[in-house]
Amino acid sequence: MTTSPLVLQVIICSTRPGRKGPVIAQWAADQARAHGKFTVEVVDLADFDLPILDAAKHPRFGEYESEATKRWSASVARADAYVFVTPEYDFSMPASLLNALQLIYHEWTYKPLAFVSYGGESGGLRSVQMTKQVVTTFKMVPIVETVAVHMVAQHFDEATATFSATEGHSKKAAAMLEELHRWAVALKPMRG
Ligand SMILES: Cc1cc2nc3c(=O)[nH]c(=O)nc-3n(C[C@H](O)[C@H](O)[C@H](O)COP(=O)(O)O)c2cc1C
Repeated sequence: MTTSPLVLQVIICSTRPGRKGPVIAQWAADQARAHGKFTVEVVDLADFDLPILDAAKHPRFGEYESEATKRWSASVARADAYVFVTPEYDFSMPASLLNALQLIYHEWTYKPLAFVSYGGESGGLRSVQMTKQVVTTFKMVPIVETVAVHMVAQHFDEATATFSATEGHSKKAAAMLEELHRWAVALKPMRG
């Protein structure tokens, strides 16, 4: 029996004009395609124009008010695993990411999550740690393997909007994707 590849969504978590997120996400998606075990999609939070949490009931009821949230729900539901490409803002995750997480609920449940983070000296790791705490409430499984781009400006050419990853970044991405795939296979039966 042949089974279709699991769907991996690489999610661009920053939404501000001039952000580096899309370029780094493109790199992450290229790594995932080279890894070869997932069907890879790039999803941009900025494309959804999400409201700040606007549902009267807890999102676990799935009674979403806005068309944007319904569209977001359908997009997230399609995936078997995620890579969040996220910066760190003020030692924290971007507000756009926290809101996108909290708007929905069951769409995330029993799915694995990895991170490509970026920032200054921290490489976005404080953002990752905060996000890990939040996603466990949806019963997501954030994995240990990660790619953290420290001092992102040194790897980024503003004039050409090009991200130059190191060999270390690529090796870490390969290890992360392999582990993410193992969890994606293991968790799929839990979603019935
Ligand atoms: C509002 C704001 C707060 C930031 N705070 C941090 C921070 O706490 N730690 C850090 O390493 N970088 C911080 N930075 C720098 C970002 O990591 C860097 O600008 C990165 O490119 C932001 O991602 P983006 O370009 O996709 O928006 C901050 C940037 C902004 C705009």
